[in-house]
Amino acid sequence: MNIRTQNLLKTCRLLEAAGSKEQKWRPKFHLSPKTGWMNDPNGLCYYKGRYHTFFQYSPFDTKPGLNYWGHYATTDFVNYEYLPPALCADEQFDCHGVYSGSAIVRDGELHLFYTGNVKLMGKDYDYVNSGREHNTVHAVSRDGVVFEKKGVVLRNADYPDDVTCHVRDPKVYEYDGSYVMLLGARTKQDIGQVLIYRSEDLDNWSYSGRITSDEKFGFMWECPDLIAVGGKLFLCFSPQGVDSDGILYNNIYQSGYAPIIGDFPQDCTIGEFVELDRGFDFYAPQTFMDDNGRRILIGWGGLPDIDDLYQNPTDRYGWKHMLTLPREITEHEGKLYQNPVKELQALRLEPQQYEFDGTWRTDHSDVFEAEIKLAQVTGFCAEICGCMTLTFADGIATLTMGEAGYGRTKRSVKLPMLTDVHIFCDTSVVEIYLNGGAEVFTARYYPKHEAYGLYITGATGSAAVYALNGFNERSE
Ligand code: FRU
Repeated sequence: MNIRTQNLLKTCRLLEAAGSKEQKWRPKFHLSPKTGWMNDPNGLCYYKGRYHTFFQYSPFDTKPGLNYWGHYATTDFVNYEYLPPALCADEQFDCHGVYSGSAIVRDGELHLFYTGNVKLMGKDYDYVNSGREHNTVHAVSRDGVVFEKKGVVLRNADYPDDVTCHVRDPKVYEYDGSYVMLLGARTKQDIGQVLIYRSEDLDNWSYSGRITSDEKFGFMWECPDLIAVGGKLFLCFSPQGVDSDGILYNNIYQSGYAPIIGDFPQDCTIGEFVELDRGFDFYAPQTFMDDNGRRILIGWGGLPDIDDLYQNPTDRYGWKHMLTLPREITEHEGKLYQNPVKELQALRLEPQQYEFDGTWRTDHSDVFEAEIKLAQVTGFCAEICGCMTLTFADGIATLTMGEAGYGRTKRSVKLPMLTDVHIFCDTSVVEIYLNGGAEVFTARYYPKHEAYGLYITGATGSAAVYALNGFNERSE
């Protein structure tokens, strides 16, 4: 380990030890940074009996900085081990941050691919067409804890001539007996695309084609991912620069999926784009396949560049953002469904069962889960934790935030009907799954006082409500 690595790892621990101990607004069963800033989930994988969740992490400040790959490992999504950062910005080729990427297991070793971010100094750079290096870097580990950087496998000069310096977030797969890598890209014409590379050995990569859209769909596609489910192939990605269109695309940047059409892994296009989450706080999701063949997705429960739109006031306690719950992805008739992995049921305390007709009120702690089955709805309204409402009328479900939304207003989605609502409230984050996971709303909220309970009107149905334990966590 070189001296820069040692010092960066030590600095991280010192900053964490010095961070605020205030627990207000700290989620209990969502992963959040010990101190500073968290963004994308990275390198999600199942390796040697454990699930690994790496994440973009800057312990220096509550804004993106000299990002590390933070690291949690778990066997059951409930008990977590907090490990030292797996990667830090300790080389010339990644000296301004180890940016997002992915993991792949090969011959018992865990291989990581990530973007080494370098910002050149001194000239009048625009950092889009000049002044930035986005190196694709390979690192490897035999135990899933300590990683050795093998070096740069692709640099900007290796990417096609018509793309800008913005080429990042490698996602690597085994595909048809060899390896495929997807990279998110911005062209010189400001069009978002995905570049496809192929390799036989994970070291030597050659350009194979790209995934494009028939019409421009944003200027940059971040965090590309392939989702193969139900015999179909989808591209999951996070486009930037898509204009809002009625109730669609209302966040600053989007995250969603589209079927891949054509000759993947050569040049191909995508079909209709569908947003994965309809709430205010969701971005840069990544998926992986576990040893039981489940496709699991984790997203960033936040977004970049939103401060002028709405706020996350936890920065007064020295930390910001979190990851979503791990969600199992399934496919039905070309649509992806998301549901929290079943392991999370281990967090449940004694259930309380209810039947209701018209109106129903229940008080629960600020950390609970509610599974609500609706037999009939006429003017459905659920007030959640006294600080937001979910309504369903005229084929539209709407989440409206009050004052605790800190600038968040409302988000909506079309639904033919409302049959069930599955709510997870965790202190300052809510995830609401509708109709068996057909739609999800993720949102942060920051109540002044402890906020709890549900108040439902305009519906007949039944519910099971559980107070929940938090995650258990231990550090090395
Ligand atoms: C997405 C993203 C990625 C990048 C990372 C840097 O939120 O911008 O494209 O690799 O964050 O933290």
